[in-house]
Amino acid sequence: MQKSKIWDGAVRLFHWSQVILLAGLWYSADQEWYGLHMAFAYTLAALVISRLIWGFIGSENARFSHFVKSPRKVWQWLRQPSQNTVSGHNPLSGYMVLLLIILILLQFLTGLMTSDDILTEGPLVALVPATWVSFASSFHQWNINLILGLVAVHILAAVWHQWRGDKVITAMITGQKVIEVKTPLQFKAVGLYLLLVLILMVAFYSWQGAVVWEMLRSEWA
Ligand code: HEM
Ligand code: HEM
Repeated sequence: MQKSKIWDGAVRLFHWSQVILLAGLWYSADQEWYGLHMAFAYTLAALVISRLIWGFIGSENARFSHFVKSPRKVWQWLRQPSQNTVSGHNPLSGYMVLLLIILILLQFLTGLMTSDDILTEGPLVALVPATWVSFASSFHQWNINLILGLVAVHILAAVWHQWRGDKVITAMITGQKVIEVKTPLQFKAVGLYLLLVLILMVAFYSWQGAVVWEMLRSEWA
């Protein structure tokens, strides 16, 4: 067994910025700072959509084809977990990762159609039927509880693995883990992921930058 790189910079940057931004999104909604809320949301969306693309073109173990396994493989892994050979998400955590990404994306999409029925609304509210707005607004409110519940399970699982000697949290920070190396993983340059994030940020900025600036100005004036 030897210490090897298992996570690229893109996965780690995505992971920890997502944690900070979700905390910011929750707090800004709680304080009713919706300009900040939207600024955080577009930043998170750029990171998540880029992560989705990275799941097809990125480093070997960041690809969905590498970690989304058949239910039979999940069952086999549950019966015989072999922690020190896993060079990425294990078959069970692969599904949790996929679910979290989908739910965060849905949270973003419903945010675009959410209205607080007073002053603040997402940019698609005026463009979609009122029934969609009403559904999206309730979805936006209860889906966050589902995300937080799953995040709690996710953190407990990570702490449990770490405590049992499978240093998954350390690996998500440093990118390295002690494993039995079979064939070395192939990695892509983090710059490509950053480029995707930048392109999406520019797209969101051209679409909603002026609206968000105006809201930020009135919130902090
Ligand atoms: C808002 C909170 C969090 C969310 C939404 C979240 C979500 C995710 C997602 C989507 C991934 C997959 C990363 C990828 O493949 O790109 C992941 C992986 C991971 N996260 Fe989190 N995470 C959160 C907080 C945490 C915290 C606080 C810890 C540490 C205590 C943690 C530990 C890990 C670990 C160890 C992995 C790798 C799992 C594996 O080896 O299969 N996460 N997380
Ligand atoms: C993944 C990204 C997002 C997260 C995690 C998130 C999270 C939240 C949370 C926790 C609330 C408070 C819900 C409650 O009252 O219980 C909220 C409310 C709200 N969010 Fe988001 N949000 C996101 C994206 C967006 C986007 C993109 C927009 C619009 C551009 C948006 C607009 C709003 C509005 C207008 C409210 C107030 C709803 C009300 O008072 O009924 N959100 N969001």
